[in-house]
Amino acid sequence: MPHYRSIVILTGAGLSAESGLSTFRDANGIWAKYDWRDVATPQGFEKNPALVHEFYNMRRRAHAGVKPNAAHLALGRLSREHEATTIVTQNVDCLHEAAGTARLIHMHGEAMKSLCAHCNARGPWIGDMSVATVCSACGKAGGMRPDVVWFGEMPYHMETIGKLLLACDLFISIGTSGHVYPAAGFVAAAADAGAHTVELNLEPSQGASLFAEAIYGPATEVVPAYVERLLAGEA
Ligand code: APR
Repeated sequence: MPHYRSIVILTGAGLSAESGLSTFRDANGIWAKYDWRDVATPQGFEKNPALVHEFYNMRRRAHAGVKPNAAHLALGRLSREHEATTIVTQNVDCLHEAAGTARLIHMHGEAMKSLCAHCNARGPWIGDMSVATVCSACGKAGGMRPDVVWFGEMPYHMETIGKLLLACDLFISIGTSGHVYPAAGFVAAAADAGAHTVELNLEPSQGASLFAEAIYGPATEVVPAYVERLLAGEA
């Protein structure tokens, strides 16, 4: 068993890269193809909702066709075998769920969920969405959007995440570039609370210097190996 009392794991797009989902800031990433201001802000949705729906319809279709990789599966096993492990993901895909993760927080929401701007109703959504889509709760059209957090909006569950960071004695960051706050600030909060901090990533992130330990390589190699050591009480 791990010799840590409470573990918080932050994940980003790099965790799903080897499942076939694009990251955002790598050379051929999503933001090299789309301007985030057009497709991931409330202003962009206001200006051209059809473009935003097309963007998320394309991503929903991509998510539907992929499977969790060895890194997702190792994290799922850790969360089942170590009760005080919580995964906080920035990802809006459902690969952690597919890997049987016990305690999971989607701080940026989920592409496979809908939100009605008219009545705030939320629910599962796997198909395409458009401005003509009618909300099954209030019956109105024109207000349906993916239940994802856009730039300028408040990420979800921040109070819970703050408490988890204060209480953890191990913080692991996996597959994230450390570009976007508040997630990029979690390592400092955990370190201030006395936690050991580890970065598992393909390459050093923006916040690399803030971590006490780092192991670089593809997630499907470094994550299962680290989880094995953690469960054996050797990490
Ligand atoms: N294994 C491990 N890490 C990888 C792999 C891999 N196979 N491939 C890429 N990475 C790393 C990259 O080196 C990079 O550091 O994953 C990170 C991906 O960074 P980003 O593309 O910036 O994605 P992320 O950090 O999740 O972005 C954060 O920004 O655009 C917003 O809302 C969006 O949640 C997203 C947030």
